Amino acid sequence: MNVVTCIAPVNIAVIKYWGKRDEDLILPINDSLSATLHTDHLCAKTTVMTSADFKEDRIWLNGSEESIDNKRLQNCLKEIRKRAKLGSDVGSWKVHICSENNFPTAAGLASSAAGYACLVAALAGLYNVEGDISAAARSGSGSACRSVFGGFVRWYSGSKPDGSDSIAKQIAAPEHWPEMRILVLVVNDTSKKVSSAIGMKRSVATSELLKYRAEHSVPWRVEEMTKAILDRDFTKFAELTMKDSNQFHATCLDTFPPCVYMNDTSHAIVELIHAYNAAAGEMKAAYTFDAGPNATLYLLEKDVPEVISILNHYFPTISLGDIGVEYLKGIPVQPAAVSEDLLRRINAERQSPGKLKYIIHTCARDIELIDKYGVITSLFGACIHKRDT
Ligand code: DP6
Repeated sequence: MNVVTCIAPVNIAVIKYWGKRDEDLILPINDSLSATLHTDHLCAKTTVMTSADFKEDRIWLNGSEESIDNKRLQNCLKEIRKRAKLGSDVGSWKVHICSENNFPTAAGLASSAAGYACLVAALAGLYNVEGDISAAARSGSGSACRSVFGGFVRWYSGSKPDGSDSIAKQIAAPEHWPEMRILVLVVNDTSKKVSSAIGMKRSVATSELLKYRAEHSVPWRVEEMTKAILDRDFTKFAELTMKDSNQFHATCLDTFPPCVYMNDTSHAIVELIHAYNAAAGEMKAAYTFDAGPNATLYLLEKDVPEVISILNHYFPTISLGDIGVEYLKGIPVQPAAVSEDLLRRINAERQSPGKLKYIIHTCARDIELIDKYGVITSLFGACIHKRDT
C-alpha cells in the first residue's frame, strides 16, 4: 500500500477571479492574484492511499463518505493519472481519499481552493507526477490553482483553447513581505448564497460590467498589483485590493438576477475601514470580500493591535460563554489601547453585539512550515508526507 498525506493552504484573492471562458476546462476570463494564508490557521489535510486490494476509488470528506462521481473530482484524478510515473500494476490500483479542514466548513470560508489543491498535491505525490500541478488543481476549482504555491501568487488566464497556459505562478515568496498580516472576520449570517460556480456563470451571461472589468480593469490592475507587492507599497496594495473587491461585487449586482454576497455587517466593515484610514491619515487596512459576507483584512503587523481594538469597539462580541468558541484565533495579539481622540475621529456606527462570530489572525504562508511537519518531499509549496508500506 502507498500512502501520501498533504496539507494545503487557503488563498484570498486581492484581484478577483470571476467568470469562465470555458466551463469544462475551468478557464477564467481574466488573470487573478492572491496571497496564500498560513496553514497553521486555515488548511485542508488530505491522505491518499492506493492498494491492490481496493475495489474502487472512494472519498471521505470531513469523516463522511461522498460520491466519487463528482465531475470536478474526476477531472483531478484523470489529470494526475494521465501523468503518473508508476509501474503499470500500481498505476492501475484504485485510490482511497480522506480529506478534512482544520476550520469549520460552516464558517463559509473558501474551502474548495485548499481542498482541491491538497487533493492534487497528494495525488501527485502518490503517482510521482513531476512539473506544474496548478493546472490539475484548476480542473477541480479555479481558485485552487493559486493554493499550490505559498506567498503571493498570480493565476495567468492564458489564451490557448486547451488551457495549457492557464497556470499559477508565485510572484513573491512570503518572506518578501514578512510584515503582511491578514485578519479574517467571520460574519454571523444564515442566508443561503448562490455558489461561485453558478454565480459567475450567470454574471458571464448577463453582466456588461463584468465584460468591461475583464477587458479594461483587470489587465492594468493586475500589473499594478504585482508592482505594489514587489515594491512592498502598502498604500497602493490596499487601494487596489479594496477597489477590486468593490468592482467584483458591483458585477455581482449587475448580474441578472443579482447575486448578493455582502450583508449589512459586511457594509459596516467597509465603512469602518474607510473611516479608520481617513482618521489615521494613511492607508492602515484594506478589506476584500469573496462570494459571501466574511471580510478579509490585509494590514501590516505594526497595526494589528490597534485594528483589533477598533474592531472590538465597533463590533463588540457577545460574552465568550455564549459564543462557545475562542473569539480571536490564530497568531496571539494583545489589543492596544486606542485613544478617545482616534475613536472620535473615526466616528463610525457602533454595531450591536455578536455581528462577528470570530476573528482569525494569520499571515502569508511561511515556507518553514515544511520542516515543522517533518515533511519528506516538498512539492510546489504544498507539504507532503509520503509513506510506502
Ligand atoms: C470570489 O474557484 O470557487 O473567491 O472555479 O467554479 O470552483 P470555481 O470557482 P471558485 O471561485 C472563487 C471566486 C472568488 C474569487 C477568487 O478567489 O479569485
